[in-house]
Amino acid sequence: MAEPIRIGVIGWGLRGGLAALANRPDEGVEVVALADPSERAQARFREKIGENVFLTTDYKELIRQNLDAVFVLSPDWLHEEHACTLLDAGIGVYLEKPMAITVEGCDRILSAAKSGGAKLFVGHNMRHFAVVCKMKEWIDEGRIGEVKAGWCRHFISYGGDAYFRDWHADRTRSTGLLLQKGAHDIDVLHWLCGGYSETVSAMGGLTVYGQIQDRQAPEDHVKVEFRGTWPPLSLDKLNPVVDVEDLNMVLMKLDNGVLASYQQCHYAPDAWRNYTIIGTEGRIENFGDAPGQSVVRLWNHNLQKFSEKGDEEYEVPTATGGHGGADEQIVGEFLEFLRSGTTSVTSPIAARQSVAAGVAATQSVRSGGQLVHVETLCSCLAEHFATG
Ligand SMILES: NC(=O)c1ccc[n+]([C@@H]2O[C@H](COP(=O)([O-])OP(=O)(O)OC[C@H]3O[C@@H](n4cnc5c(N)ncnc54)[C@H](O)[C@@H]3O)[C@@H](O)[C@H]2O)c1
Repeated sequence: MAEPIRIGVIGWGLRGGLAALANRPDEGVEVVALADPSERAQARFREKIGENVFLTTDYKELIRQNLDAVFVLSPDWLHEEHACTLLDAGIGVYLEKPMAITVEGCDRILSAAKSGGAKLFVGHNMRHFAVVCKMKEWIDEGRIGEVKAGWCRHFISYGGDAYFRDWHADRTRSTGLLLQKGAHDIDVLHWLCGGYSETVSAMGGLTVYGQIQDRQAPEDHVKVEFRGTWPPLSLDKLNPVVDVEDLNMVLMKLDNGVLASYQQCHYAPDAWRNYTIIGTEGRIENFGDAPGQSVVRLWNHNLQKFSEKGDEEYEVPTATGGHGGADEQIVGEFLEFLRSGTTSVTSPIAARQSVAAGVAATQSVRSGGQLVHVETLCSCLAEHFATG
């Protein structure tokens, strides 16, 4: 019988559950080690995974644990250092999105994977969201003809609590929320529209949370809970540094001529994403994005002025698990990647391109909406990952 696949983890916070999904001793996959400076995180890991795990505060100690792969679930600004060190040591990496907080960081990670040959997988779990998958299926079937436009409006009721009370609010830690949060949706727009952003122009600002003066002290230990605080101006104990935008709008021109846009508001009363993709022969749009509570509609025949339900409607079935079951699916995709070397829907190049577009859009916001060219990817990296 083959040796079990040995998995380590860096960072057992909110996303720790993802690595727990990979712990499948019956299938020959064992989570065996954690690096996290937090004693509470280590205790939670031991409780969840078992007594005989290796625990350390120094992630470099994982290198000597004979691991096949490591889930890098640390905060964004550490992704580059953590991923590069592991890849240089020949250890496979599951890297949470965003890949890194700079384009140079992403390219260093890709180069480390290329030169050492270790496996790199970036966890864009939204590619497994049911509404997104249905849209991709209809587009690939030609149901809306040739795609010409992709729009996404993103309402984030929990934006204040989740992103303005910790490191996310500090641009030295996240670059900004157009990248941090937007990397998901920019990646989905790229995927559905079949291209990568070449030029972007964006506007945004710190329009609400900047008015709140209350800041947390180190002894406050604020727990981020992804809850909507209402009204948004009643939020207290913000991160000591708050210099990222809470409202962003970006226009993108893709390399295949498609025009796309992404709008993000961190103080909306509701929480969901609304995508619409328009082609030469129709349009699709989702209403709601959670399993059991959402539909995707297609208009490609009925030319009435207003037709609420369109020509076809797909009701997203109920599903259980993290992010509507997408977390289970992406972990499954990763384990298959470890075994066979092939992925089904995610791509490290696409992950890099969503960061590159997010960085350029942030630059545009901070320069008054100027047109910014997205940094191109060197052909040697593009070719290496295109051929697997
Ligand atoms: N794909 C998704 O849907 C999704 C959702 C939420 C977060 N994320 C991403 O997942 C990552 C983790 O987010 P989170 O919400 O779990 O963060 P978190 O703050 O809850 O957890 C981060 C953990 O990393 C640990 N850590 C900090 N510094 C470390 C270091 N030097 N070495 C090792 N561990 C360290 C912390 O102690 C903490 O336990 C982020 O990159 C975030 O952007 C992705």
